[in-house]
Amino acid sequence: MTRIGQAGLGAWGKNLARNFDELADLVWLCDADEERRREFAERYPQARVTGDFGDLLGDPDLEAVVIATPVPTHHELAKAALEAGKHVFVEKPPAMRAHEMEELCALAEERELVLMPGHLLLYHPAVRMLKRLVDEEELGDVLCVYSNRQNLGVIRKHENALLSLGVHDLSVILYLLEEEPAEVWAHGNAFLTEGVEDIVFCYLRFPSGKIAHMHLSWLDPHKMRKVTVVGKEKMVVFDDMELERKVTIYEKAPWQPSATWGEWQTRSGDIFSPKIPNDEPLRLEGEHFLQLVAGDGDRRRAALDGLVVVQALEQLQASLVAAPA
Ligand SMILES: NC(=O)c1ccc[n+]([C@@H]2O[C@H](COP(=O)([O-])OP(=O)(O)OC[C@H]3O[C@@H](n4cnc5c(N)ncnc54)[C@H](O)[C@@H]3O)[C@@H](O)[C@H]2O)c1
Repeated sequence: MTRIGQAGLGAWGKNLARNFDELADLVWLCDADEERRREFAERYPQARVTGDFGDLLGDPDLEAVVIATPVPTHHELAKAALEAGKHVFVEKPPAMRAHEMEELCALAEERELVLMPGHLLLYHPAVRMLKRLVDEEELGDVLCVYSNRQNLGVIRKHENALLSLGVHDLSVILYLLEEEPAEVWAHGNAFLTEGVEDIVFCYLRFPSGKIAHMHLSWLDPHKMRKVTVVGKEKMVVFDDMELERKVTIYEKAPWQPSATWGEWQTRSGDIFSPKIPNDEPLRLEGEHFLQLVAGDGDRRRAALDGLVVVQALEQLQASLVAAPA
């Protein structure tokens, strides 16, 4: 079993620890907060607990680290771990700037280590379904993808809604379209904490002409976790708030019946929801990381997927900062 250490035992870290404890040998736990360390020491008595990340890196038997600390710390911790020869799973985004992510990718490649970003949604069976529908051209040409990730809270102080929420949608959009954006813009505002945007709207245009939009907010009356893909033949919605009907396929489209002499009309057919397996995405994500560590799968691809997301994020962030409030 792979010997794993985890840094960051907060709200999300506890889910990662639960999964990695079941899938691997969780031997180190690290958090800057003493109370968290006490709590986790009781829960995982087999693990050694520390406040110093260096203790994990100094253990020659430790093979891999999981990083679930706040975003601004990711690059520094991931870099130190790769330099110490450890495989790295790092929560999204692994870095806030493209040059930092390039540095991590180069380090991982040079040392033949895994660098896997925590793009959780790519392991969601519903997103896999969207990908199949797009790749098999079930929807016809894809015209537009847009996402809604809104709720009241969690209000963050260190990372804005783009960095905290947008990474999820960006990873899905880039995964579905397999193109890098030619043009991006983001608008938003920081209402509660200076410099930390709570509400952000993003637009992306791709070389093929496809367009995408993201509405990201933790100041909203609706809890929405939705991705919509508009194709020329069919349209599909992934709604993660639905318990059963996570994916709905709409046979709705524009069409030009010959009788109308080229006038565009619309047609509406069946609406149906395919069965989506109930597998926990985090479990699948953890399994994929361990497979990569074991030498199965495409390590390089995992790191480069992270790089394209960070590059697009950096462009969006630059546009957000430059935009008039
Ligand atoms: N994949 C997902 O769906 C998902 C969901 C939520 C959060 N996240 C990501 O997980 C990460 C953590 O988020 P969270 O909500 O758990 O945050 P959190 O604030 O609840 O927890 C972060 C923990 O890291 C600890 N910490 C901070 N700096 C540290 C350091 N240098 N060394 C060791 N410990 C340190 C803090 O004491 C805290 O306990 C973020 O990157 C976030 O983007 C991912």
